[in-house]
Amino acid sequence: MSAADWINLSGKVAHVTGGAKGIGQAIARALSMAGATVMVSDLDLPGAQATANQISGSAMALDVSDSAAVERAMQATAEQLGGLDILVNNAGLYAQHGGPVRTITDQTWRELWSVNVDGVFYCCRAAADIMIKAGQGGRIINISSTQAITPGVGVTYDGSKAAVAQMTKVLALELAPHKINVNALAPGPTWVREGSPPPTRGNQPSPSGDPLSDTVADRIARLPAGHWGDPMEQGKAAVFLASSMSDFVTGIYLPCDGGWLTL
Ligand SMILES: NC(=O)c1ccc[n+]([C@@H]2O[C@H](COP(=O)([O-])OP(=O)(O)OC[C@H]3O[C@@H](n4cnc5c(N)ncnc54)[C@H](O)[C@@H]3O)[C@@H](O)[C@H]2O)c1
Repeated sequence: MSAADWINLSGKVAHVTGGAKGIGQAIARALSMAGATVMVSDLDLPGAQATANQISGSAMALDVSDSAAVERAMQATAEQLGGLDILVNNAGLYAQHGGPVRTITDQTWRELWSVNVDGVFYCCRAAADIMIKAGQGGRIINISSTQAITPGVGVTYDGSKAAVAQMTKVLALELAPHKINVNALAPGPTWVREGSPPPTRGNQPSPSGDPLSDTVADRIARLPAGHWGDPMEQGKAAVFLASSMSDFVTGIYLPCDGGWLTL
């Protein structure tokens, strides 16, 4: 036995939602690098397939806001890949849903919460059922955000990520007797725009007169790490939470944020 065995995910099956690009793609790659067999799902099926091709994984189309589709997807993962040991709830909506409260429509609010909150709930419920029946324990990793703690993007997004953090604690308590660890991973600013390098310190994109977004730009400019995060930083943290390295860790909110929450 060596420390490398503690992160070895060989024989484990993982499902990563929203894995076509960005953080989800990096997490799918990282879990695969640790030995897991990965099902990548996304609204964007060609994107999910492209990620799966990189890691010899599988792909499926999934809208996490569709409860019945989520049930089918989790079941299909277990049937096709021989079980379900790790669920990463990564799919999420963000930028287009910010702004001051007076400008947020019912539709905008519902659209984001149906993905960021309802979607996480549906996936947790479906996966927990499969994991409990299999009796082998499991890991659920919910992607929250530092915005759950520090307001900045707006009530719709920040509120949704705080809901994810609290759902995580509740489910950790409920599922612990089944040896299912449930943790939240909270990325700080992570640069996911392919093809363009992250802005350097002092040169952050200044949003168009929106005071909430300006707060975020200002904080990023003062980030202790001095640079935006790379998606694979989140992938490494996800491997920690998915592996035996974190056997005694459940119910936590783990910031992976370059020091954002120190500001
Ligand atoms: N990038 C950051 O700085 C940052 C910081 C904190 C938290 N996060 C969180 O990390 C997660 C991933 O963010 P990202 O920056 O990689 O985003 P992204 O927009 O690059 O990727 C999100 C993926 O989710 C998919 N998706 C959207 N709605 C979906 C749905 N209904 N069903 C299934 N898939 C859907 C998209 O197609 C896309 O492939 C999100 O939950 C986000 O809130 C990101």
